[in-house]
Amino acid sequence: FAEKIDENANQVIMKLMGLGVMAGLNDQIEFEQAELVALEFNKEIAKEVKLDEIEIQEKDLDFEDDEKDLQTRPPVVSVMGHVDHGKTSILDAIRDTQFASGEAGGITQHIGASTVKINDKEIVFLDTPGHEAFTQMRMRGAQSTDIAILVVAGDDGVMPQTIEAINHAKAAEIPIIVAINKMDKEESDPNRVKQELTEYGLVSEDWGGDTIMVEVSARTGDGIKDLLEMVLLVAEMRELKANPNRAAVGIIIEAQLDKARGSVATVLVQKGTLHDKDYVVTGSSSGRIRAMFNSKGEPISEAGPSMPAQILGLSDVAEAGDKIFAVEDEKTARAYADRAKEQKREERLIQKSNTNLEDMYEGI
Ligand code: GTP
Ligand code: MG
Repeated sequence: FAEKIDENANQVIMKLMGLGVMAGLNDQIEFEQAELVALEFNKEIAKEVKLDEIEIQEKDLDFEDDEKDLQTRPPVVSVMGHVDHGKTSILDAIRDTQFASGEAGGITQHIGASTVKINDKEIVFLDTPGHEAFTQMRMRGAQSTDIAILVVAGDDGVMPQTIEAINHAKAAEIPIIVAINKMDKEESDPNRVKQELTEYGLVSEDWGGDTIMVEVSARTGDGIKDLLEMVLLVAEMRELKANPNRAAVGIIIEAQLDKARGSVATVLVQKGTLHDKDYVVTGSSSGRIRAMFNSKGEPISEAGPSMPAQILGLSDVAEAGDKIFAVEDEKTARAYADRAKEQKREERLIQKSNTNLEDMYEGI
């Protein structure tokens, strides 16, 4: 101990005697005694945590729930489609907000989560960008949701990102509800849209297929109520359930570094309930939740299954698409994060040595 705090061993023994502890050079002392002695030398000590002794893996945190613990949860719906086809406008019509007109260049550049209550039933929406640059975000949008609303402008028809969105939804194995938008426009032709969609395996119910298609106008609000009813119907058929009474598991929807607030992350809770002050870990970032907000920016103390929450308190910027887990204590969080960091480092090293090999071969 004397060596560790860089003090003379005799001095340490003297201090211990002062505390009424008779100890020789090779005797064990208690941590609390060592702490007091260190203080006498104006030093602070902390218990060494052996992180590698904590064996914690994803499967321990993301375990399966018992059927009897499952309860109905709200549907999470991603709104997808080609740029400018009216995704944000449809959400504005649903929420009675005006987000679309406030966006830079009229383009959505992030995934926004919002919660809406319809006939006492909650629906969580993820707005996704339609611009071709945001493929990753659309893919994550589809992967973290239960249902996709595919927005197709009636005056423009099926476009490249319409097709991309169909593919993401198919890959994620979630049902697609088509919203044929801009029906207030003279040029809009829903039959043309339906015709084009058949090429991608989406055949409207009135054409003998099994895809729900609703004609809407975000501008006038026509059809929006029908669209919501269809969402609730499809959600009910899916019997979406989760156990709210367990440590939370979620997915990072978005993350950034905020000048004033530090690392900020939007989490979509998938299982369990996330609480303010929970210890959490995501990838190589960990921490204790310092504050939590709902999709309206209001402070909240907990978020249950399907609910989006913005959280503050992570050590680093989280990575969108990563899972996030609530854990018992700080030690567990740090052990998990440290292991993830170590894994990342190893992956980088392997990558580097592969590149070196390639260089070598190129030289031959
Ligand atoms: P990205 O997020 O950039 O992919 O676009 P978006 O799909 O969210 O489209 P947004 O809601 O921003 O709408 C694009 C433009 O279409 C805006 O100028 C809207 O006012 C207009 N728009 C949206 N819905 C309707 C509609 O039902 N009728 C008419 N006439 N215009 C609409
Ligand atoms: Mg948008």
